[in-house]
Amino acid sequence: MIAQYKHKGYKFSEFAQESWWKIEAPKLQNLVGRQHPMPGKRQQRTGLTLWELEARCGQGELEAASWCAKGWTRELDQDPPFNARSRVDWDAYSLWLWTLPGGMSWRFTVVGGCAFARDIGISHDPFWTLHWLWIHPFSRHRGVWAESFAVFVQRFHLLQIHPLTSAMQRFLAGRPTHPVRGSAGEMLQLFAREPGCKKGHGPMVEHTPGLWLCGARLGDDICREKWAAPALLRSASSAASTR
Ligand SMILES: CC(C)(COP(=O)(O)OP(=O)(O)OC[C@H]1O[C@@H](n2cnc3c(N)ncnc32)[C@H](O)[C@@H]1OP(=O)(O)O)[C@@H](O)C(=O)NCCC(=O)NCCS
Ligand SMILES: [Zn+2]
Repeated sequence: MIAQYKHKGYKFSEFAQESWWKIEAPKLQNLVGRQHPMPGKRQQRTGLTLWELEARCGQGELEAASWCAKGWTRELDQDPPFNARSRVDWDAYSLWLWTLPGGMSWRFTVVGGCAFARDIGISHDPFWTLHWLWIHPFSRHRGVWAESFAVFVQRFHLLQIHPLTSAMQRFLAGRPTHPVRGSAGEMLQLFAREPGCKKGHGPMVEHTPGLWLCGARLGDDICREKWAAPALLRSASSAASTR
């Protein structure tokens, strides 16, 4: 399928427009939002900042998010997920930007963005779904997403992610999930900070580093479900703070 979408009334595709290939990051003078500190040493060194946008943010921030969403559209050949001109329901839609410090005449360079949509089904545990995510190619492979993921899981508790790429599949493999029953009765495995017991007893408890046990009381017995973090994840989380 040819990736193309309407832009200001004309078809915009990788075969037609020279500018389709340009990926000049947006520059912002003002940015209204909640700043989330990035834990990694590398991110602190570069001044990378993660912003949670809010209702009082300006058109510039929305345009920047829309620009990132366009990057996602082009790269993954998806329908445009977000438009700066559409009305945002801030209770059900959460928009985020990553920025680096700007140059002489602007304060922030936007190097990525993403959005989460609140589950509007009737699941008992409310959760959020990653709607789109795009990081500028020149900002990739520096742990931006990996370190932000911890922030998102803390912020939203339960996250649904449909991986569209092998990179995302690889990233998500072996991460703790929490089972939740969806509105149609199906079981959903949502990403969470702590693993949840597969038998539905709630969050597990870390017994020794990387080993999680349920331990819920079942009459005279206890639930013996356990979850062990893959070695890769354990070493990544201990290395993250030194990167
Ligand atoms: C996916 C994306 C957000 C990753 O961002 P990033 O900041 O570069 O990712 P990180 O540097 O934090 O990498 C985290 C992990 O993801 C995996 N990963 C990232 N890029 C990868 C690639 N090209 N191939 C395989 N695995 C990859 C790896 O497991 C990596 O960990 P490692 O560096 O220890 O091997 C970014 O590549 C992107 O915007 N891609 C295009 C849009 C997209 O795919 N969106 C998500 C759709 S679900
Ligand atoms: Zn259990």
